[in-house]
Amino acid sequence: MNDMRMSPNLALNQLVAQRRAAGESLVHLGFGESRLPPFAPLMERLAAGATRNAYGPVAGSPEVRAAVAGYFGRRNIPTGADQIVVAPGSKPLLMALGLVVPGDVILPRPAWNTYAPQARLAGKHPIAVAIPEECGGVPDPAALRESITAARVLGRDPRILILTLPDNPTGTLAPPALIRELCAIAEEEGLLIVSDEIYRDVVHDPATEFLSPAEVAPASTVVVTGLSKSLALGGWRIGAARFPHGPWGEWIRSGVVSVASEVWSTLAAPMQSVAEYAFGEPEDIRERLRASARLHGAVAREVHRITIAAGARCRPPTGAFYVYPDFEPVRAELGKYEVTDSPTLARRMLDLGIVVLAGHLLGDEGEALRFKCATSMLYGETVEEQQLALDAPDPLALAHVRSLLERVEEGFMRLVP
Ligand SMILES: Cc1ncc(COP(=O)(O)O)c(C=O)c1O
Repeated sequence: MNDMRMSPNLALNQLVAQRRAAGESLVHLGFGESRLPPFAPLMERLAAGATRNAYGPVAGSPEVRAAVAGYFGRRNIPTGADQIVVAPGSKPLLMALGLVVPGDVILPRPAWNTYAPQARLAGKHPIAVAIPEECGGVPDPAALRESITAARVLGRDPRILILTLPDNPTGTLAPPALIRELCAIAEEEGLLIVSDEIYRDVVHDPATEFLSPAEVAPASTVVVTGLSKSLALGGWRIGAARFPHGPWGEWIRSGVVSVASEVWSTLAAPMQSVAEYAFGEPEDIRERLRASARLHGAVAREVHRITIAAGARCRPPTGAFYVYPDFEPVRAELGKYEVTDSPTLARRMLDLGIVVLAGHLLGDEGEALRFKCATSMLYGETVEEQQLALDAPDPLALAHVRSLLERVEEGFMRLVP
């Protein structure tokens, strides 16, 4: 029955709603949503798309698939429209991949909290491998080799390697050299790489070099992406997958299309109008992506500074909208407050008015003193405040952002007074 629980971040949302309804004032950093208003040109596309009320092709219309193929082409991954499937979010695409591709799944530890439950739902064993010092979203190469050997000795059959670039929960991006090393291991070991690039357009510094495994190991990489994060459209449910060229890729893609045809039929047609426009990346979309990434970076760096001031060690965030502090350096002090592991640490943060997602819920070691903060919840409560944050040259100087950050800082500083 373990697998029948609600996803922990969604369960946390319900808890926060209940405690707020009871009058408690909480800063919610436990949910990975980009709290920004929808972009007006996309709302226009959505309204115009409302006339499209017929079922369309399961994989998506030729036009939307061509737009997604163009998106990958501009990112140094030449792609034909026949390699693309669009869907209501990347979650169902990841689940379909798990149902279609045989074998067990290797994940980074920690990782986004959906990969392991999805693997179990597909009858697979999730194999969690520690991340390197420098970044998350990928397993440490030496640990990966050891885990593959150990898993096979135990009778497991590791065949899929999930990478998250940039990463949720650490907010970091694996550098090109590491990607090359992991691709070499995957090719040697016959693993299919599933590269989750949903945060690709949320790299904070546009000068950062991004290497997709699809550039290095094109025959054995499926890329999954979507508009939930980069364009703050989580509720609109728009995801896309790119499959390798050739018979193996075509086999996986037709399996995913078969699952899609039995489960969701197709991405809602008005959303395909939105996706066609967004993945086409006219200048207004590109400017919106740049502005959003700037804001995410500024706020994530500020929360990172706060975690360090509070005594944690923490990888500096370079992408997405998360920080993942580790309070091991102050374990002795935390012990005085009966904080000894991931659940007790998250509970103490809650008592201090800050909602975070405990590391063990992301597959991390339960005794570690780590949690995830989603910094994208700090742009304001109203659409007007969020728009101001997006437009501001220095969002940290805005009174409403400042006051939220002050509450975060106060909470963190009371953790180890
Ligand atoms: C790493 C990662 N992948 C995929 C998703 C799912 O996104 P969606 O189903 O909205 O496309 C999320 C959302 O939290 C995520 O963090």
